[in-house]
Amino acid sequence: MAGITDRPFRQLCREFGAGMAVSEMVSSNPALRDHQRTRLRVDHAGEAEPRSVQILGTEPTQMANFARHNAERGAQIIDINLGCPAKKVCSAAAGSALLKDEALVGRILGAVVRAVDVPVTVKIRTGWDAANRNALRIATIAQESGIQAITVHGRTRACGFAGHAEYATIRLIKQAVRIPVIANGDIDTPEKARAVLDSTGADAVMIGRAALGRPWLFRGMRRHLAGGPSFASLDQAEARAVVTGHLQALHDFYGAFVGVRIARKHLGWYMKSLLGAMPPEMQAINRVEHPEEQLVLVDRLFDYPSFKELAA
Ligand SMILES: Cc1cc2nc3c(=O)[nH]c(=O)nc-3n(C[C@H](O)[C@H](O)[C@H](O)COP(=O)(O)O)c2cc1C
Repeated sequence: MAGITDRPFRQLCREFGAGMAVSEMVSSNPALRDHQRTRLRVDHAGEAEPRSVQILGTEPTQMANFARHNAERGAQIIDINLGCPAKKVCSAAAGSALLKDEALVGRILGAVVRAVDVPVTVKIRTGWDAANRNALRIATIAQESGIQAITVHGRTRACGFAGHAEYATIRLIKQAVRIPVIANGDIDTPEKARAVLDSTGADAVMIGRAALGRPWLFRGMRRHLAGGPSFASLDQAEARAVVTGHLQALHDFYGAFVGVRIARKHLGWYMKSLLGAMPPEMQAINRVEHPEEQLVLVDRLFDYPSFKELAA
């Protein structure tokens, strides 16, 4: 997820049991390649394998070159984004806009697969809109192009993030192709993960928004999918360690100025997920500029005897 699945967050999700955590999407446009932000997006130092990097673009040769560039720098899987609905991305006919041009999809996928020795995967939506739900054809093109797995978000581009994801199309795709199919969209509990796996026959599920402020969700899911008890939340001491550890990792990764700001975003998600609300202390915390001070104030939040009191 752009702006979210940086290395610190990917590592945290992996520690809690996610089988794989894909990088933020990176543009194949060579003009952006040397930006500091782009470099951080493909920084895998110390990261667990397999390291998957998602690339975005519209031009087959450029995509192929960029895939090779990433494989040479440690990517062990190249994931191609055909699902991004963002206006900025679609007006450049990238992301989900590509779904409208099946011939171009075939050329891009083929060029990238030929360019690298590592597996290439693809992430799609179910189509451009309800009248053009062509995910099944795209999945077949992907398989014929040598793509090794396909993730399907059960919404069209026109849906944005509205309404509910539908899984019937994912089931049809799973029945039609031999490559692994990963189901995605609105999966936010271990029970839902089980239900979606059962109803679609998919080989795996991918979790997006539900992991924000809740990376421990993967632990509950893993346990439940292995036949164990369902969701087991974490206690206050573990929450303190996870949140402060994440903040520290963000400060180290981005440096003080950017790290503190990115940490604020995650803190908001943590508070929402742990407390269901923002404690009044967050106002002061959000004004803090220094990493140490941010850490001290956040650590203090967890001195309350219980989450309940903290939320009061
Ligand atoms: C803020 C945000 C950024 C996202 N960035 C990406 C991205 O870079 N690449 C991608 O394939 N999907 C991206 N997505 C889509 C998610 O991967 C996922 O397909 C979608 O949110 C539905 O799954 P969920 O209901 O589990 O969140 C993004 C979603 C959000 C909310």
